[in-house]
Amino acid sequence: MKNIVILISGGGSNMAAIVRATERDRWAERFGARIAAVVSNKAEAGGLALAAAHGIATEIVPHKEFPTREAFDEALAKVVDAHSPDLVVLAGFMRILTPGFVERYAGRLVNIHPSLLPAFPGLNTHQRAIDAGCKVAGVTVHQVTTELDHGPILAQAVVPVLPDDTAATLAGRVLAQEHQLYPRAIAGWLADTSRHIRKF
Ligand code: GAR
Repeated sequence: MKNIVILISGGGSNMAAIVRATERDRWAERFGARIAAVVSNKAEAGGLALAAAHGIATEIVPHKEFPTREAFDEALAKVVDAHSPDLVVLAGFMRILTPGFVERYAGRLVNIHPSLLPAFPGLNTHQRAIDAGCKVAGVTVHQVTTELDHGPILAQAVVPVLPDDTAATLAGRVLAQEHQLYPRAIAGWLADTSRHIRKF
């Protein structure tokens, strides 16, 4: 069985979309894959209850309890490793990871970012796209490297930016695409077991 470990910080709607896809598209039968655990850096992350309701192991590693990023990432890696991950999926995980963590999971660490990378890495992507006068926006699924919101692009989806958009309306349109794209990108990764992902 290929083990997927999903890291979240909040509502976990992308995680929920992935959970739905594993069940609807029978990832266990088709790919020999399952979601082994959902891990959050926040105890109050809404997604934890949904994961538990689907019989998925949940873990909390509260970043505030650690003095440094390195100490947090070490504790996080210990929890993640306990689930023997073949793929680690960042789904709205809002912590910057240390190079040590990223290198440990090189080639099996993916992220979703709500912009058309390499445009608008970082925060406030939707407002920045509106302010820049972009006519399209979108979402990117990419492999994680030590540079924030960079790394080989696995999949993208595009949405229009409408004249009366606010950051919130644009975010909603992008999020609907995220829920389609992320499960599809992960399924593609699982299907293509022969793909040799470059290590960084
Ligand atoms: C999503 O829009 C995701 O792309 C974004 O946070 C949101 C989490 O929503 N991630 C980032 O901005 C990472 N840089 P969710 O918790 O409902 O999936």
